[in-house]
Amino acid sequence: MRGYFVYYLKIIWLICVIHELASFSIKSTGNVAYKKLMAMRSLPFEDCGSLYRVNYLNIESCTKVPCSMARNSTVKVTVLFDDNGNGVSFLKHAVSWVFTYVKTDAAISPDPCDGDHNCILNVNNSKSYWANIYVNPTLPVMRGSMLWEAKDEHNQNLICFEVPVLITL
Ligand SMILES: *[C@@H]1O[C@H](CO)[C@@H](O)[C@H](O)[C@H]1NC(C)=O
Ligand SMILES: *[C@@H]1O[C@H](CO)[C@@H](O)[C@H](O)[C@H]1NC(C)=O
Repeated sequence: MRGYFVYYLKIIWLICVIHELASFSIKSTGNVAYKKLMAMRSLPFEDCGSLYRVNYLNIESCTKVPCSMARNSTVKVTVLFDDNGNGVSFLKHAVSWVFTYVKTDAAISPDPCDGDHNCILNVNNSKSYWANIYVNPTLPVMRGSMLWEAKDEHNQNLICFEVPVLITL
């Protein structure tokens, strides 16, 4: 009997330890877990030399790449990134449409994003920004990509990503 009792006590102790460890790791990695979750929900993109890690990219009404974008429409783009606690509050966007033989500048609003438009937000320990991109009616109806760069006041490149798009009529 006594042997069993000790055995049960050991099991209960083990359960307590596991529970403690689990809740500790959930607390300490909550942010990491959140970032992983966001990364899983992100559209796939190619990083082209971001200083700050881009964790998540969302393009309005796009669930898979290439993102279909109708000419003469405005599309909202949302990005989540780590600013490593640097309190980024200004972003100058430089966005282009890249096709096989053509590269043209895209019209972005608000630009620069300087905090006047609530376009940079704190999300947990990360930052997010949003901006609207205008799909110019003169763009060729074909597959290409959208190249997004965001720089700081000193023209330093903070963010760079490229995502495949398909311009439609
Ligand atoms: C912040 O992170 C937690 C998980 O750690 C998540 O549940 C919550 O939705 C996040 N907040 C925002 C505003 O996304
Ligand atoms: C673009 O769309 C607006 C309405 O959303 C329309 O008034 C305008 O004529 C369109 N321009 C072109 C070039 O199709």
